Amino acid sequence: MADLGTTYLGIRIANPVVVAASGLVSNINGVEKAARAGAGAITLKSLFEEQIEAEVAAAESSLPPGANSEAAEYLRGMGLHAGANDYLALIRGAKQAVGVPVVASVNCAAGPWWTEFANQIESAGADALELNIGFVPLDGSESAEKIEDRVVSIVRDVRAATRLPLAVKLGPDWTNLNHLAPRLVEAGARALVLFNRFYRLDVDLDAMKLKAGPTRAGAEDYHETLRWIGMLDGRLRDAELVAGNGVRDAETALRLVASGASAVQVCSLVYEKGYDAIGGLARAMSARLDALGLKDLRSLRGRLSRRMSEKPEAWGRAQYVQALTGIS
Ligand SMILES: Cc1cc2nc3c(=O)[nH]c(=O)nc-3n(C[C@H](O)[C@H](O)[C@H](O)COP(=O)(O)O)c2cc1C
Repeated sequence: MADLGTTYLGIRIANPVVVAASGLVSNINGVEKAARAGAGAITLKSLFEEQIEAEVAAAESSLPPGANSEAAEYLRGMGLHAGANDYLALIRGAKQAVGVPVVASVNCAAGPWWTEFANQIESAGADALELNIGFVPLDGSESAEKIEDRVVSIVRDVRAATRLPLAVKLGPDWTNLNHLAPRLVEAGARALVLFNRFYRLDVDLDAMKLKAGPTRAGAEDYHETLRWIGMLDGRLRDAELVAGNGVRDAETALRLVASGASAVQVCSLVYEKGYDAIGGLARAMSARLDALGLKDLRSLRGRLSRRMSEKPEAWGRAQYVQALTGIS
């Protein structure tokens, strides 16, 4: 069987199937199931600022009316620690329970609270930290450049607060990821996870109100990931590219590896098929490599990236203009 060994955030792992941050791995039971099923590494569910804010709000509501701002500030600090404590316990428990790397994840949206925790996450024993960076701009006055500067400074601030390897997980919507990605690596990212799939919005016409869109990715969702992994392969010094969104089978996972991914993250697949799908995916990847006559994952990685292509312009193709380009 072809060897699936690879690295994830510079750490050697036996296979490239990494469980993505989600409710699947928000408690020790889920972490154990994922490891037993054969995950190469596990990214814990993100700690969200909202979780901490809710604790703070509950504590603040217990203050007498007119309580001074110092008391509110004190409670805020307490809330930050209480929210973090549960998460730190999850990291410690996960590290005790499983032998594969455990990557903590924090959602970086508004305040700089996550830099405070980066250090504690390191002390709790996490092998690495993933920064889940995603926000939909509501304010038309903030330019794309300003938003990107904000993202880069998040990475730089966390880099200064911890020695843990950092992954930066992004959504797909950027003006020019070819420009942003090297800046993130320069700021301290050891890996880019492309792409997150964010909460989707929909409307219900009968109820005349907003509703949530579909939560899970489908088999067709990986193409922009493939484009950008292929586009960036070989252009980011030592940083790794990790593929996510729509990895549903070995064929897709290996297409992403051929484009330059060193590992793939899975979430929807496991929600739908159960934890055993993790090991099933790894085994099927190995069998497919055998069928391709390749002895290991490394022999495939990046072979079909832009860097290796005779038609690098194909990665910049946005329109269906086959007649003009000759690319089918
Ligand atoms: C129920 C659910 C919870 C998720 N929670 C998180 C999270 O806490 N942090 C995060 O970075 N991504 C989260 N995600 C996104 C997944 O980690 C993953 O990036 C996304 O689902 C795309 O991968 P997939 O096609 O394998 O599902 C969540 C996804 C789902 C469906």
